[in-house]
Amino acid sequence: MPLLTIDGKVCSFTPGQTIMQIANQEGVVVPQYCYHDGLSIVASCRICLAEVWLPNARNNNKLEPFMGGKLMPTCQTTAAEGMVVYTDSPKSVANQKAVMEYLLINHPLDCAVCDQAGECSLQDYSYEYGRGKSRFEESKIKQPKKDLGPTMLLYSDRCIMCTRCVRFTREVTGTSELLVTGRGNREEIDVFPGKALDNELSGNVADLCPVGALLDKDFLFAQRVWFLKETPSIDGITASGDNITIHHNDGKVYRIKPRINMSVNKWWISDEVRYGWKFIHRADRLGSMVRKQFGMAVETDVQRACSDTVAGLRKAVAAGKKTAVIISPMLPSEEAYLLAKAAMAIDPDTFLAVGPIPVNGVDHHYPPGGDERKRFTVHAEKCPNSRGVRRVLEALSKTGSHNGYVASFEQVTSQLRSAEIGGVLVTGNYPSEWINADFIAALEGTFVAVIDTLPSALTARADVLMAGATFAEKAGTFTNAKGMIQAFEAAIAVKDGAIAEGQLAIGLLDAAGAALPANLGLYNAAMIRQHMAANVPELGAFVSEVHTPTAAVAQEADMEIVEI
Ligand code: SF4
Ligand code: FES
Repeated sequence: MPLLTIDGKVCSFTPGQTIMQIANQEGVVVPQYCYHDGLSIVASCRICLAEVWLPNARNNNKLEPFMGGKLMPTCQTTAAEGMVVYTDSPKSVANQKAVMEYLLINHPLDCAVCDQAGECSLQDYSYEYGRGKSRFEESKIKQPKKDLGPTMLLYSDRCIMCTRCVRFTREVTGTSELLVTGRGNREEIDVFPGKALDNELSGNVADLCPVGALLDKDFLFAQRVWFLKETPSIDGITASGDNITIHHNDGKVYRIKPRINMSVNKWWISDEVRYGWKFIHRADRLGSMVRKQFGMAVETDVQRACSDTVAGLRKAVAAGKKTAVIISPMLPSEEAYLLAKAAMAIDPDTFLAVGPIPVNGVDHHYPPGGDERKRFTVHAEKCPNSRGVRRVLEALSKTGSHNGYVASFEQVTSQLRSAEIGGVLVTGNYPSEWINADFIAALEGTFVAVIDTLPSALTARADVLMAGATFAEKAGTFTNAKGMIQAFEAAIAVKDGAIAEGQLAIGLLDAAGAALPANLGLYNAAMIRQHMAANVPELGAFVSEVHTPTAAVAQEADMEIVEI
């Protein structure tokens, strides 16, 4: 492989790569504003300019200044064998200082009230590459604040005109709502007249903006970013399996951002995933265990809820009826496994069924018709784990009297209607209303135990109701539309009074008098996966093919901390 040297570090590269791509890959820090791996290269911000030297074959391969010694944009300059790049030479550093001074001329310096403070490239580079002192004495040009659309505000005076946002709407979404108007220091980002920034990936422009110009309305003044903890996770509401980071503080989620995974979501997430987590903190979230007593719903504890569920289902079996367990495709595979095992411990012949799989329209691909290696897909299937749940149930149905039969939600509804089923355990966990009137009507005369997170006609009908946990409050794996098994951990604690489905399943197994998997008293997703692989050969992939997020590297500030 060819080699080049950047700031003293020898790096190998693939022909065609730019100097910056190699630097980013090798961990050599080169300042950059307008460059982004997912967008075209415009080399407009000029902060990445560096001194480049190249061996001259016509002069005994002696190193000579490239292009007559002018500074080269590392984001746009293709690497060549033997190239030597200096981003820290006096000439390069002088350019960095000049660019920073230029960018800050009209900047309002309002970091104290800016949402981007703490994660702003302008702040960071001012410290690393700036002068530390302003020489500007004239009046600053004031730029307006603009409402760009349903998700985004633009504080134009903070904009450094990197045009990442404009290129995103042209090259990724193909919606082209944004443009650059004006010239020189009157240059502004704007929307075309009569058009709003309104597409299903619009929130990504806030992530792309290296400064605090594009602000997410949903996060506006919600929290200072240095208070937020970040937990890597997986999209818990669609089949995309988008890699996300949940930003939270004190048990409250504040925002969700994408994590780069070139095999899944590339650099982006849809607005649906970005803003779809609000149900986690809905005021009416279920937060207790409830049982029916003389027809009245009364609060109970988890042991009683579990023992009532076991008793209710066994009573149906004793009356000569069948039972069913409906496992929601919103649940991780480990929980699906434990719940199915619990239902089979209560009634070995229970019907195993996958809950309703919500689908909305068709898959959307971005860029429309573009390069497949950069393609991002918004999946029409609006649940994270239908494939994982089905895989688990199919594997378990090969044991006992099931003969490989996994029922659909519609099949269970029809058997309930014909009164063949006398007891059912239903799991929900959907982010919005999911149950239909047909199903409720079919439950007439049936014992119903429900585990769900939000109230509905079904939870009101339940003989036993157990409050479950959302994806942000639990650990497990989701299998996405491409069949990738991806693990995630809990970001926040389970809502008071609720218990994650995996733990409830352990309670049900216990109440049914069954042996607990791996003697687990407490739910542990990784140990459940080990147990699944060891006991059901078809589920070996839950150990051998699991993708786990790489741990974020803690970044220590090199600033001196001053005691006040
Ligand atoms: S608004 Fe942000 S992303 Fe868009 S050009 Fe300005 S600085 Fe760049
Ligand atoms: S990052 Fe190279 S010119 Fe902007």
